[in-house]
Order: sequence, then structure tokens, then C-alpha cells
Amino acid sequence: MEQKFVIIGGKSFEGEIKVKGAKNAALKIFPVALMTQEPIRVSNMPEIEDCQRAQEMLEALGHEIKKVKPGVVDIRYKSKRCVNLPAELVNKFRASIMFVGPLLATCGEVYFPHPGGCVIGAGTRPIDMFLGGFEKMGAKVEISENHYRLSAKKLKGAQIFFHKVTVTGTESLMTTACLAEGVTILKNCAMEPEIPALADFLNSIGAKIEGAGTPTIKITGVKKLEGGEYKIIPDRIEAGTFAMMAAAANSGHTLIKDCNPEHLEALWVLFDKIGVNYKLGKDNISIFPSKKLISCDATTHEYPGFATDLQSAYTVLMTQTKGASLIHETIYDRRLLFTDMLTQMGANIIMADPHRVVVNGPTKLYGRKLVSPDLRAGMALVMAALIAQGKTEINNIYQIERGYEKLDERMCALGADIKKINN
Ligand code: EPZ
Repeated sequence: MEQKFVIIGGKSFEGEIKVKGAKNAALKIFPVALMTQEPIRVSNMPEIEDCQRAQEMLEALGHEIKKVKPGVVDIRYKSKRCVNLPAELVNKFRASIMFVGPLLATCGEVYFPHPGGCVIGAGTRPIDMFLGGFEKMGAKVEISENHYRLSAKKLKGAQIFFHKVTVTGTESLMTTACLAEGVTILKNCAMEPEIPALADFLNSIGAKIEGAGTPTIKITGVKKLEGGEYKIIPDRIEAGTFAMMAAAANSGHTLIKDCNPEHLEALWVLFDKIGVNYKLGKDNISIFPSKKLISCDATTHEYPGFATDLQSAYTVLMTQTKGASLIHETIYDRRLLFTDMLTQMGANIIMADPHRVVVNGPTKLYGRKLVSPDLRAGMALVMAALIAQGKTEINNIYQIERGYEKLDERMCALGADIKKINN
């Protein structure tokens, strides 16, 4: 059933909000269950659509998932059927690609369609670096009508250089190499915090990984992996987004809890330049009303630079700050297209080219009927609706609920007027 958010903007935005476990950490843990016959317990797991899909994928591959309590699941090896990845699930989220390597490493074969997810990259989010890496490790790759068949008797360690920094590429090949024969060296790796977190978990169940979180990662293959527990790290994108929401609303004191401010250093540099009144604790962020918010340019960059996943919320914040700001999205080709909906709401945004917009602020925003194009842009539309005058309807909220647990309930707790209704 299609659902939408109906939001009446201009309400206060203050109080406490707890950050959930990171979607982009959780989605990389589930595939690890395919590489061991021992049970795995995942805790602090966000109850979001993408995690639901990842669990359905594991069940389709012959594992059993037991919900211990909200946010905690036990994954048990039942009878792994080395089957093809179910197309209807692969098409739902990009991280489905993470299931390919473990099946290749343990079953010697895997068959899958091109992965789905957000429509933010040019065309359909390439996977050439995954395929290239698996080939280097000895796999045969056959491609036909947007489907891939990979086969390998035994994966061997290899030297792999990523021509572009790729987060899931780094994670996928780091994970797969754990069961390859010999040593794998990955170069020009992504350094997002989810990667050392994944490596820590893999090492805790018997893998031998060094250097995760740096550009060069060394994996020494082992014969088998054990079982274990994994507590998902806080979602830095949720934390940063809520901080920008509170700054844009500029109403009362908002306390963002259960997060790791160290994962957002690039945002704090921007907050200092903008003049946001904030205070960082060990695992929390406080946002207070600010006297004056000044516009500031921002360029997205791989971690530890300013995260592309924070760009859409930042663009909304820049509609409320004084002056002009140039926002340069360097990672994806389509991630600024949502700004035409902000313009419909009254924002003053000029698209210099598909990778750059100039935002002039502050401008009043007005409620509109909108459609969420993808996960982070959808959340940015919620943020804009909360500060706009009047009523906003946001359709296609599956794209938002892929990554944000109980968003309407959590926003209401901060004073927002937001309802989820059936279309
Ligand atoms: C991860 O996507 C995240 N998704 C994205 O978050 C995030 O925006 C992105 O990293 C960058 O931080 C997950 O972790 C599930 P990439 P990923 O591979 O790994 C190109 C969200 O909103 N590329 O780092 O798919 C690619 O086109 C999502 O939570 C190739 O050319 O991103 C892009 O231009 C959105 N060939 C660049 O690399 C490949 O084989 C970076 O992509 C792989 C990627």
C-alpha cells in the first residue's frame, strides 16, 4: 500500500532524539552469515526496510533469522541453498551486491541481476570494480541481459587497486578475501567508519584483516570463520541530518543522543563557519538557537571529507542561511536533481551544472505536493517541509523508510506535525 507523509510546517523542533544503528553498517553484516556455519547475533540494528530486505535475502539463501527483541536478531545457518540471488530483492537495495562475494567464496558460483537502490548515479550505479576484483581473485564473469554469473573453484588472494574510491567495493572484496587462498592487498580503499567496524567484526570471528580505515587493506585468507556478535555503530548520517534539521528549524534545544560526533568532523567545520550554536558530547550533539546563520560553500568528498549522504540536508539548511553558497556534489551525477522540488517550495537555487548548485538565502519555504526521489533527498524534503509554511505531502515514502526507522513518530516527539497516511 502506497503511503505518504503529510506535514504541517513551522512547528517547534526541540527535545531529545536517539540515533539508530547505521544502515550502511548493518547491510554489510548480514552477508557475512553466508561465510560461517556458526550463529551470528546482530544488535542495535535499525528496524528499516533495507534491513528487512537483507534478512529476507538471507532466508532465501537458507538461513534462519530469529528476532530476539527490537533491534536484536540471531542469524542461524540452516541449510544453505547455493541459489541465485532473488531478483526482486536484489533490485530493492544497492547493498544486495554484498551477498555476491560470500556466495562466490563458499559455493563457487552466484547468479544475480544488476543491483537496485537509489537512482542517484549515472545510469544504473556501475559494479565494474566488484567484477574486476572478483576476476583478479580467479572468478569467471559471464554477463547476459543485465544478469551476471560468477564462478570460481577456489578464490585466490590478489592485488587490487580501486580506480575510484568505492565504499561497498572495498567492503565486498575485503569480506570475500577472508576465505580466499593467500594474501589480498586492496589499494585506494574507502575509509568510511563502517569499514573498520566491519573489519573488527570479521576479525572477531577469525578473519585476518589489517589496515581497514586506511587506503591500503591486507587480508590473509583463512580456512573458516566462526560465529559471534556485532553491535552496529551509530548512524552518522542520521546524526548529521538531525543536527542540520535542528539548525535549520532554529527553534529550541535539541539533544541528539547515542551517536559518535567524531564521525562528523567535516560537518562541524561547516557548522563553525555558518555560526551554528552547537555543543558536542562523547556520544551526543546539542543544537541551540543561533543568532545569525551565514551561508557557506560545501564540496562532498569521500570520508573523512563531507559526506555525499549529508549533501541534500545541507542544501536545505543553506536555504535558511544568509548569503550565497555553492554546493558541489562530486560523487554522484544525479544527487542534486531533487533541488527543483526545493525551488517549487520557494527556495532560490540555481543549478550551475548537474554537480553544482548555488543557493541564495534565507528564503521562506511553502508546503507543496512532492515525491521522494531517493532516500537522502526524501529526508531532505521532510526537513524542508518541517520548516515550510503550510502543508506538504511527500509521496513514495518507501524510499525514506528504507533508511530511517519510525521517522514520523520520532519527529512528532520533537514537536513536528507529521502524519503517515495511506494513499
Ligand atoms: C555507499 O554506496 C553507500 N551505500 C551510499 O549511501 C553512499 O552514498 C556511498 O557509499 C558513498 O559514500 C551503502 O553503503 C549501501 P560507492 P556505494 O561504491 O558503495 C562509482 C545511502 O543513501 N562506482 O562508494 O554504492 C559509483 O558510481 C547510500 O545510504 C563505480 O564506478 O557507493 C560512485 O560514483 C546512497 N564502479 C562512486 O564509485 C563500481 O564498481 C562511489 O560509489 C562501484 C562504484
